[in-house]
Amino acid sequence: MNTSEFVFKGSKKNIETATYTWQTPSNIALVKYWGKSEPQIPKNASISFTLNNCHTTTKINFTKVEKQTTPLFDLFFEGKKKDEFKPKIAKFLDRIKEYCPYIFDYKMTIYSENSFPHSSGIASSASGLSAIAMCLMSLEKELNPDINPAFFNKKASFLARLGSGSASRSIEGPLVVWGEHPNIKESSDLYGVPFSYEVADIFKNYQDTILLVDKGEKQVSSTVGHNLMHNHPYAENRFKQANDNLEKLSKILQSGDIKNFINLVESEALTLHAMMLTSNPYFILMKPNTLQIINEIWNYRATNNSNICFTLDAGANVHVLYPHNEKEAINQFIETKLSVYCQKNQYICDETGSGAKAL
Ligand code: DP6
Repeated sequence: MNTSEFVFKGSKKNIETATYTWQTPSNIALVKYWGKSEPQIPKNASISFTLNNCHTTTKINFTKVEKQTTPLFDLFFEGKKKDEFKPKIAKFLDRIKEYCPYIFDYKMTIYSENSFPHSSGIASSASGLSAIAMCLMSLEKELNPDINPAFFNKKASFLARLGSGSASRSIEGPLVVWGEHPNIKESSDLYGVPFSYEVADIFKNYQDTILLVDKGEKQVSSTVGHNLMHNHPYAENRFKQANDNLEKLSKILQSGDIKNFINLVESEALTLHAMMLTSNPYFILMKPNTLQIINEIWNYRATNNSNICFTLDAGANVHVLYPHNEKEAINQFIETKLSVYCQKNQYICDETGSGAKAL
């Protein structure tokens, strides 16, 4: 695996202080990443819709200091100093130090906030780590202005991956593939790439309403869940199935075959949770209301000839997916029939987006 292209080649300018602000989105996988090896290499390729409204905004102040032996940083989340988030960032900085040695030359003050409610059960690692990666790349570009925009995004995704695998899919949009796949051009285990084939109109501006079933802290983190795929009895078949599904989904996205989209996406969600049910130790992240919602969606689809479907990430919340042209009817269904299953009737209306924005 050739990672040498990502090693910083040296500064052409001296920068004493700098501040950058980036807004980067969350994403929802259609074919799931579940299982990895060191260093953050996925066991199968995955693809996600980049979201638009669920995002993290991060500002980093860089102030030049004498060269340090461990990166110097402070972290503020939604206005408050958050020392409990520091170990994750410290681990991330340790993983990227060989690619970004300039992090030892600065004191970094990181200010971060999410557009979605705090502890909504929406994973903030994808948007959070990708935003930090973009700020680092802004500094890198100022140190070495020769960097071109394509390399900027590629290295940002490479760095984000080292913080959280799914974060590699939060730099661009509206569809991003991460993980090497023989039939997806330019795909790589090291970074995400935009899905570069023509996408049928029905999959443009796709809607994702996130039903907040359980806003509590998850009992089992994604990182622990990924590790349980080592020695999992179904692991090898699952990794093969995911790669086969990505190939099928690639054709579906191009042809506009929405019925097979629904089938594949729901099967991926349930298979992800089936892996959790069949791990050892086993665990369940769905809640009774998750299943109530799934059944309501199936009933609605059958009786209204609708193209509504669902997916799940590693939690109890349900992502309701549907084409833009069914927005009005489905929003009404969500408000009248599904919101009762959500904590405090809360849900977030989102749709596909184009990725990171400099502010
Ligand atoms: C179920 O990216 O959160 O959302 O790499 O350990 O940070 P780490 O895991 P993470 O795993 C996400 C898993 C998933 C599926 C997906 O997004 O593909």
